Amino acid sequence: MNKDRILVTGGTGYIGSHTVVELQKAGYPVVIIDNLSNSNRDVLDGIERISGIRPDFVEADCTDMEALKALFAKYPDIKGIINFAASKAVGESMEKPILYYRNNLNTLMNLLDLMGPNGVKGIVFSSSCTVYGEPDVNPVTEQSPIKKATSPYGNTKQISEEIITDVINSGAPFKSVILRYFNPVGAHPSAEIGELPNGVPQNLIPFLTQTAIGIRKELSVFGDDYDTPDGSCIRDFINVVDLAKAHVIAVARMLEDKSDEKIEIFNLGTGIGLSVKELIASFERATGVKVPHKIVGRRPGDIEKVWANPAHANNVLGWKAETPIDDTMRSAWAWQCKLRERGIM
Ligand code: NAD
Ligand code: WQD
Repeated sequence: MNKDRILVTGGTGYIGSHTVVELQKAGYPVVIIDNLSNSNRDVLDGIERISGIRPDFVEADCTDMEALKALFAKYPDIKGIINFAASKAVGESMEKPILYYRNNLNTLMNLLDLMGPNGVKGIVFSSSCTVYGEPDVNPVTEQSPIKKATSPYGNTKQISEEIITDVINSGAPFKSVILRYFNPVGAHPSAEIGELPNGVPQNLIPFLTQTAIGIRKELSVFGDDYDTPDGSCIRDFINVVDLAKAHVIAVARMLEDKSDEKIEIFNLGTGIGLSVKELIASFERATGVKVPHKIVGRRPGDIEKVWANPAHANNVLGWKAETPIDDTMRSAWAWQCKLRERGIM
């Protein structure tokens, strides 16, 4: 039986591209909408090289209602949406809050507005562990308290979850699965797609791999005086392909009406908290490549420790993060080497 078409917003981005590959592997026809503000067309080649299928692609902005209407007119068979499209740099959101509220919230509201009239059955939304702030207790479950957001970016995730909830509770004729990602890392094992940071990376892994290859002189470890076993911060680093696979399950769940709930929320993490120092050690062990690093002061606004209790996703979705961290680090390194090979970085 032919599967329903999925609209993937932000589908040439980091998590979106890996998800498109998994959707195609599962037999879903895909159309991507992306304005290429944080990705490029070459990603489509990478997706095609892995899956053998070139996804349909529309270059447009999700805040442009007319462009979205035209897309739905062209693809009347869209039955599900995965909404990755968003601006995601925490620091930039402090400097340009309006850009973040406008882009992230208008994108979501436009999509929600068009779903009913176009017969779309469900939307998967990319949320974040940032909604838990600094948790009182780890690991965090979906019932852990939502803390006041510390950045406009984080606030857009909280507000987005509330918007989805209000729209669905108002009787909208569709479902939603909200996925709270922890720290997505790594790349496709083929090294055909991966994370492409813009400028100096703010996130740990791209900075680490760029240091390992010599683009950066050394990695700064932000603080080793935290209340953790080795003093560095603890995160739940989740392999991006494992993460992508959860989206395919979430889409099927909505389209096949496998749940009576109209809104479901899942933590997507490994359940394992790893420190920054442990992650560097894993990279060095897995690749045999040394990462020059030094301890510097804390980064303002950093969370000391957060990791997921993924039991709800494990039990209800039948999904589990399974890639060992060393394999994930090898994939991140292979991707960095591929970027060098292609003369990109
Ligand atoms: P990304 O920047 O690589 O991908 C987002 C894509 O959306 C990019 O290709 C960008 O060009 C596109 N885009 C942005 N605004 C758009 C718009 N208005 N119209 C069309 N396209 C637009 O980011 P990512 O890491 O793949 O993140 C995907 C989603 O997951 C985001 O919503 C992000 O907030 C969320 N998330 C990411 C992380 C993480 O650490 N990467 C963690 C938690 C949640
Ligand atoms: C991880 C750890 C740093 C860089 C961010 C967003 C969050 C979510 C995921 C989207 C921290 C340390 C980092 C460096 C370092 N995104 N670090 N040296 O801060 O956990 O989360 O991405 O929703 O909302 O805030 O990720 O990769 O920036 O940092 O020591 O050069 O690595 O202090 O402890 P973070 P990160």
